[in-house]
Amino acid sequence: MARSLLILPVFLVALYSCNVNGQYAYFDDFAGQKFCATRERTPEGTCCSNRVDECSVPIAGTLCYCDEFCDKHINPDCCPDYESFCKGAPPPITKVCSIGDIHIRPFEEIKVNCNLCKCSGNSTVTCEEDVCLSDVNVINDINRNAASLGWKAYNYTEFYGKKLKEGLTYRLGTFEPRVKVKSMSRLGHSTEQLPQNFNSLTKWTGFISEIHDQGWCGSSWAVSTASVGSDRISINTKEVVDLASQHLLSCVRHQQGCTGGHLDNAWRYLNRLGVADEDCYPYEATVGRCRAKKNDNLRTMQCNLPSTQRESLYKMGPAYSLNNETDIMWEIFHYGPVQATMWVYPDLFTYRSGIYRKSSFGDQHAKGFHSVRLVGWGEESNGFQRAKYWIAAQSWGKWWGENGFFRIARGNNECGIEEYVLSAMADQHDRKNARRARSHQKTMSRNRA
Ligand SMILES: *[C@@H]1O[C@H](CO)[C@@H](O)[C@H](O)[C@H]1NC(C)=O
Ligand SMILES: *[C@@H]1O[C@H](CO)[C@@H](O)[C@H](O)[C@H]1NC(C)=O
Ligand SMILES: *[C@@H]1O[C@H](CO)[C@@H](O)[C@H](O)[C@H]1NC(C)=O
Repeated sequence: MARSLLILPVFLVALYSCNVNGQYAYFDDFAGQKFCATRERTPEGTCCSNRVDECSVPIAGTLCYCDEFCDKHINPDCCPDYESFCKGAPPPITKVCSIGDIHIRPFEEIKVNCNLCKCSGNSTVTCEEDVCLSDVNVINDINRNAASLGWKAYNYTEFYGKKLKEGLTYRLGTFEPRVKVKSMSRLGHSTEQLPQNFNSLTKWTGFISEIHDQGWCGSSWAVSTASVGSDRISINTKEVVDLASQHLLSCVRHQQGCTGGHLDNAWRYLNRLGVADEDCYPYEATVGRCRAKKNDNLRTMQCNLPSTQRESLYKMGPAYSLNNETDIMWEIFHYGPVQATMWVYPDLFTYRSGIYRKSSFGDQHAKGFHSVRLVGWGEESNGFQRAKYWIAAQSWGKWWGENGFFRIARGNNECGIEEYVLSAMADQHDRKNARRARSHQKTMSRNRA
């Protein structure tokens, strides 16, 4: 077949249009694939010198060639790997796409922060255009204004390359309350003088749970509930325990697992059924199947029994909500950490240190609802002003913020943090048991003495 004479005009145009800058750029769609390299070794060789029409490989319903004749100026019809395979040249850089000072080849993809960019066959770049969780412009803006804002931002490796929507879905995970848990009105405490600075970690050293990391699972509804429960059982019964947030995540019904849950459902479960401890039911950051059966206890769930010889699951009394700043402080001071809900604006993800207030940088995008644990409060002089703050435990790991904590402005309902604050008492039954266990221990040691 006289191949150069029978080419249809249309095909000829197609091939011409692919020949860019005198470079060999045919069959662009097949760049990087093997053709000549797949040929059986013939007497002429895998690649052939001069013109050998049989020295070809099928491609896209036609043939491409691996002979020297394919390499001509009009109608080049070499296989895509002719240059690299037959002539040992590096693969031809036919066309490149440029994204800033990064160059990529046709059909290659590259991630620029959180967005995937793709180079098309015609040198045009198309990128996703999502807002990223860690945006260097926002971080720089915040740090330039750190003195007036009161806090500093940081480019966290863990958040870099993630989309804002991923952060809002998988780093938060508490639904806005539909039915608010009934608030508790306290009597006769408003006259009590509370300290200017207070931190549960100092008052109850050894009884306050660690900073957790919810991972990429929108389970703050479970993690914050379990950690407030842990702190209050530990403080009020002196049974140091870390309640299993995974037990809530896997077992509470009518929740959406890693895409969010309602706090009232979580507290109701903790009140009625109770949960195992973290060692027995470790956190996995995915919903999984519920391991607890009806009427299970620590023994039937094959947990290691605590030194108190408790067998029942850990339960809390019914949840109640707190009215205002002083009520919240009073509650933390006497009974330990509480759970607060808040709106999370994109800049909170970048928080490194200081007293957080929502900035005007990057807050034009979406926000999400979240729950955290309030462990204390304080005041700090900020030039001529006093800045009041809450100390809050985040659930993103110790690498974030101030060792996993953040401070947020107090007294002006910053991001809604004072709007819906929940708590519950350690279960009365458990408290009685714990007292009995302690007095039993005392009697035992007295008897021994
Ligand atoms: C390049 O190709 C893309 C599809 O891959 C197409 O949308 C675009 O219009 C093309 N651009 C030019 C200049 O041909
Ligand atoms: C931000 O952090 C990522 C991941 O550690 C890094 O690749 C990127 O270069 C950083 N950006 C800036 C502007 O420092
Ligand atoms: C908070 O509410 C209590 C009643 O529950 C009230 O006595 C107290 O004055 C209030 N405090 C503030 C700061 O509004």
